Amino acid sequence: MERTLVLIKPDGVRRNIVGEVISRIERKGLNLVAMELRTLDADTAKTHYEEHASRPFFDSLVEFITGGPLVAMVVEGERAIEAFRALAGATDPVTAAPGTIRGDFALEVQKNIVHGSDSTYSAEREIKLFFPDL
Ligand code: PPS
Repeated sequence: MERTLVLIKPDGVRRNIVGEVISRIERKGLNLVAMELRTLDADTAKTHYEEHASRPFFDSLVEFITGGPLVAMVVEGERAIEAFRALAGATDPVTAAPGTIRGDFALEVQKNIVHGSDSTYSAEREIKLFFPDL
């Protein structure tokens, strides 16, 4: 069993598709083990995205992710990291396959609805940041 951190970003919450995203996760056979609606402070957002600190879009990404409530979840299952990233689709929603979350609901690389950890190392780090007591 593997765990991954999933975020339904502020654009997903604003568009009222939280239920849709959770339903896709559950229908896939993945299990929710923790979930919280919260608004991130800038320090937490910067730590979460620290590997992108030198990229030109970093400030804009931090502003976006702190701009409203998001849903943070720990999702568990067989190869959960890869399984969720397949459900999410490509980072750029324009090229994300139809049938994926981003392919079905988004058009912009920043407002791409969901985040999923990209490795076991990131998953462990991100889960500790969002759910230190887990
Ligand atoms: S990936 O999947 O991690 O390899 O994608 P990557 O291209 O490295 O993007 C990492 C996160 O940065 C966001 N992103 C951007 N935001 C704003 N503007 C631009 N141009 C841009 N490019 C990438 C992207 O939504 C990724 O967010 P997360 O939450 O990790 O999916």
